[in-house]
Amino acid sequence: MTWSTQITQLLDIKYPIIQAPMFGVTTPQMVAGASETGALGTLALGDLSYEKCMDAIEATRRLTTQPFAVNIFVNSIPEVSENLRSQYSKVSSFIATLAHQHGLEVVLPRLEEIHLTDYKDQIAAIIASKCKIVSFTFGNLDSQSIALLKENGTVLIGTCTSLAEALLLEASGIDIICVQGLEAGGHRGSFQATVIPQIGGLSLLSQVYDHVNKPLIYAGGIYNARTLLAAQQLGAAGFQVGSLLLKSRESALLDFEKQHLSQVKESDIVLTRSFSGRFTRAITNTFIKTVDGTDYILPYPYQNKLTNALRRAAKAKGNTDFVGIWVGQSIHSYRDGSTGDILQELIREVEEATG
Ligand SMILES: Cc1cc2nc3c(=O)[nH]c(=O)nc-3n(C[C@H](O)[C@H](O)[C@H](O)COP(=O)(O)O)c2cc1C
Repeated sequence: MTWSTQITQLLDIKYPIIQAPMFGVTTPQMVAGASETGALGTLALGDLSYEKCMDAIEATRRLTTQPFAVNIFVNSIPEVSENLRSQYSKVSSFIATLAHQHGLEVVLPRLEEIHLTDYKDQIAAIIASKCKIVSFTFGNLDSQSIALLKENGTVLIGTCTSLAEALLLEASGIDIICVQGLEAGGHRGSFQATVIPQIGGLSLLSQVYDHVNKPLIYAGGIYNARTLLAAQQLGAAGFQVGSLLLKSRESALLDFEKQHLSQVKESDIVLTRSFSGRFTRAITNTFIKTVDGTDYILPYPYQNKLTNALRRAAKAKGNTDFVGIWVGQSIHSYRDGSTGDILQELIREVEEATG
């Protein structure tokens, strides 16, 4: 197989393999490890403030001179209405009681204390630090931000979970489209429909390839040569891997979370809104089973902010019943070497399989 594709050319990388942004799991060390291998590391900035974005980018730059991408959340934020205020206090009391019943002491933020980042501040940080590759999820960038980033020579990668979303990204002039299959670990990048699209990765990638004239990255379920080559057959020119790196040395997951991952079974992996208010693919646990299907779920990002303290307390106690561990549907051995070694092994496997 020749590794050169539109993606390697556009991004100036050797292998069209992208280390998925994984907010809370990705570290500057993981990004550098991926980029030093000749793949593309992606620094997950989530909803970090301007200053924290600058710090994370600088920390990564200290570790590698190779190209890497930065990734942000571009969701719209629901207005704080009277209804939201009363819902917030109801969900807050519910979570406080639940935590107390399970021996977790948490101090939950009041609604007024929650600080939400405007992604335009993050874009200012990205431009100030001269980052040249930006991927985003949970929405599309506004036209002003697209123009600003393009003026600065930035390559843009948008995430879609349906053909309709892919067409919107294409019409906005986004350079590369990341097609996120339903198998993928972590949050669904969905932004167009009120009900999240249910189309599977195989069908979605093939449909987007047929109807959209942009280079495609596929994300969702890739963990070995066969799954990568299947995505290539369906039209992907780039291959994004997330769950494959969850147990890597550079992953920010704690040891007890990595151990828990090794025991995961097919039926444990679910899509849930309980932790953040957006659908995310995660390992089921007591929290998810208690909250899913109830009214104790606020719209994103309020639910996310409210459950943060609970997750932190659970992490500190090594309690898998209340942590959020995001993972995709392809269960495998979750190798535990360095990011570089895991990616090198994938590259070797693909080269062996294709001769
Ligand atoms: C722990 C975790 C965190 C994630 N966080 C982000 C994120 O911050 N931004 C993003 O665009 N995608 C995020 N994703 C989704 C990945 O970019 C990608 O779509 C997914 O990992 C691909 O599926 P896989 O896990 O089967 O490889 C996350 C995925 C995981 C597993």
